[in-house]
Amino acid sequence: MMSSLFAATDLKTLRVEAADCRACPLWENATQTVFGEGPSHAPLMLVGEQPGDKEDLAGKPFVGPAGQMLDRALDEAGIDRKKVYVTNAVKHFKFVPRGKIRLHQKPNTAEIKACRPWYERERAAVKPALVVAMGATAAQSVFGKITPINKNRGHLLALDDGAQALVTVHPSYLLRLPDQETRAREYQRFVDDLKMAGTQLRKIARAA
Ligand code: URA
Repeated sequence: MMSSLFAATDLKTLRVEAADCRACPLWENATQTVFGEGPSHAPLMLVGEQPGDKEDLAGKPFVGPAGQMLDRALDEAGIDRKKVYVTNAVKHFKFVPRGKIRLHQKPNTAEIKACRPWYERERAAVKPALVVAMGATAAQSVFGKITPINKNRGHLLALDDGAQALVTVHPSYLLRLPDQETRAREYQRFVDDLKMAGTQLRKIARAA
């Protein structure tokens, strides 16, 4: 993966290198690597699980149904997505074919670990003050170990280099909730988590 002793640190080069990643078998069936996207020094980094069907085809993170849910929640939380760096813990779409549909499969620990250097290098390049891990896979990658969402949600966590992190649910979780009442309540909690991220970013900016 890292072909030179002088591993690239700029996002443009990282993106090109990641396009040829063979660190796990997921590249074989996916259309392309879906690298992160956003301003190169965004103060906020959002981390999801892995690209879905739409993202795999478009080559961009969070452009499908989960992305629409995320956009709506960001908007309600007063966060401009254009100012956020959005990425995934795993950068290839993992699926099983079911007729005409490609059914999403959760990445396993080996795949999360294999992809983690890309996340780490993205974070080293962007240097966000705050990282929001959305869902269990993202949390596992961001903290380098299994980090339960419910236990850690709602308060700031420290990353080893001094940056801060929050964990919340994945927007796809909201899409899967069966009844409207639970969905509305959980959506509001998700918006509240994003609002907390916004408040924390403003505090960090004021202290700088
Ligand atoms: N789900 C994710 O975790 N990431 C995407 O980019 C799309 C759906």
